[in-house]
Amino acid sequence: MAEKGSVALKDVSKIYPNGVVGLENINLNIQRGEFVMIVGLSGSGKSTLLRAINRLHDVTAGQILIDGQDITQASGDKLHKIRRSAAMIFQNYNLVKTASVYRNVMSGRVGYYPAWRAALGLFTKEDQALVATNLARVNLLDKYYVKARDLSGGQQQRVGIARALMQEPSVILADEPVSGLDPKTTKLVMNDLKRLNEEDGMTIILNVHSIGLALKYASRIVGLKAGRIIYDKPIEEVDKRDFKEIYREAGDSAAEEAE
Ligand SMILES: Nc1ncnc2c1ncn2[C@@H]1O[C@H](COP(=O)(O)OP(=O)(O)O)[C@@H](O)[C@H]1O
Ligand SMILES: [Mg+2]
Repeated sequence: MAEKGSVALKDVSKIYPNGVVGLENINLNIQRGEFVMIVGLSGSGKSTLLRAINRLHDVTAGQILIDGQDITQASGDKLHKIRRSAAMIFQNYNLVKTASVYRNVMSGRVGYYPAWRAALGLFTKEDQALVATNLARVNLLDKYYVKARDLSGGQQQRVGIARALMQEPSVILADEPVSGLDPKTTKLVMNDLKRLNEEDGMTIILNVHSIGLALKYASRIVGLKAGRIIYDKPIEEVDKRDFKEIYREAGDSAAEEAE
């Protein structure tokens, strides 16, 4: 059986119902503990790729294995369990703004409960303690009772990370998690993710627009263009001039960043 924390894509393609090609023949093998940053122009397929891994949408062809388990074919309880092992962090945080930080973080745990118990808020003492533990990991324990809407963007994203941790995932998928944040806050959020990667060996797959961030945090950089992988190198082999090709079109600002 494949090691926990591994993600494999085999000949994955995704064509949207309107005929747009989102992904074309993607092959990727990601091992436990990698910090993979996916770079590419807007519209290159980064979000399509992450959503496929978590099966937020179906692919048209190919297989995706998480911890060696095929998520593309799974259904029912099996799908539920595979999905639980890959937690998602979103660009817009996806918090319930009117709910407390505690509630938002606990919502990452509902996959471990029958629906009726979750609906009644009947969470175990252990899981309540886990909320506190995970909030402490992102340095937000003091915000336990605060409503999500009263937090800054960076704090909201770190609540998103704590919520993801409640799933006890082997993989974290993050879709441009820092693109709405200022540089100082970006650093806090990226460092939280880096710590999970280094201390827990958690696999992280993160979409990013900024080459600078990819160069700073990635252990491996994958470049997408028009739904295809056009670049895939471990950080030791990366030369920042490589990215001119990926970003050349449209006078993209990331191209200048890579100069
Ligand atoms: N729901 C959708 N229906 C049709 N086309 C889509 C949909 N979502 C994304 N696309 C198209 O798929 C391509 C890849 O988009 P996306 O994965 O969002 O790129 P990125 O995240 O790199 O900006 C783009 O051409 C986009 O317009
Ligand atoms: Mg996107």
